[in-house]
Amino acid sequence: MSQEVEKYSKPTRILHWVHLVSFCILFLTGLVLFIPQLGFLAQDSVTRVIHRIGAVVFIIAPLIYIPMNWQATKRGIKEAFSWGASDIGWLKAAPRYYFSGDEKDMPPQGSMNTGQRLWWLIVLVSGAIFTITGLIMWFAKTSAPAAVLQWMVFIHDVAFILAGTMLLLHIYLGLFHPLMNEAWKAIYKGNISAEYAKKHHAKWYEEVAKSKEVKS
Ligand code: HEM
Repeated sequence: MSQEVEKYSKPTRILHWVHLVSFCILFLTGLVLFIPQLGFLAQDSVTRVIHRIGAVVFIIAPLIYIPMNWQATKRGIKEAFSWGASDIGWLKAAPRYYFSGDEKDMPPQGSMNTGQRLWWLIVLVSGAIFTITGLIMWFAKTSAPAAVLQWMVFIHDVAFILAGTMLLLHIYLGLFHPLMNEAWKAIYKGNISAEYAKKHHAKWYEEVAKSKEVKS
């Protein structure tokens, strides 16, 4: 059997799936409010209640995960905000790699490549924006000035368009792109082959190999 490396721990995978499901519920029930032609679906308020239930799960899941996985959380946040010259190199070389498979200019990557880190940063920032603006719309609907509420709706909508579009790209790369054939395995089973790790996450693989976390 080929050697395997652990990419995502069980708690991280559970958080990912709980967040994905709640995000999709929030996206679909948000879409009903966003597109006037779908307004009739929101008339009896069922979708609004479902939006709020989705929001509670979306907010509580990381609040449970963070204290139980503090080291992984710190590492993850540091990665999201660490950018350098090799990220520029990755962004320049990525179109040739993703469209024609030519990887000669791709700089070696850590546990997340530049594109994955960009998505991760958007998840963190948009998650905070959704939570702050959503809670204000929810709990200050009758007390906040109308202009503030209008701004909250506008910012919530911008985050919806940005994060929703990026989610579609994320799903395409994770499930359908022929070169990303172990991404699904990583987030479903937790492991990827050592060969894939060496090729796509060389810097991270070196550290893992040193600490002997490679299983056969
Ligand atoms: C995470 C915490 C979130 C909270 C607390 C929250 C809360 C809310 C609330 C209270 C409203 C107003 C609903 C109404 O009019 O009755 C709303 C609207 C909306 N939400 Fe969220 N939401 C959250 C996350 C999300 C996410 C993740 C998405 C999409 C991916 C989303 C998309 C929308 C959209 C598109 C609207 C309609 C805004 C408009 O009227 O133009 N929300 N949200």
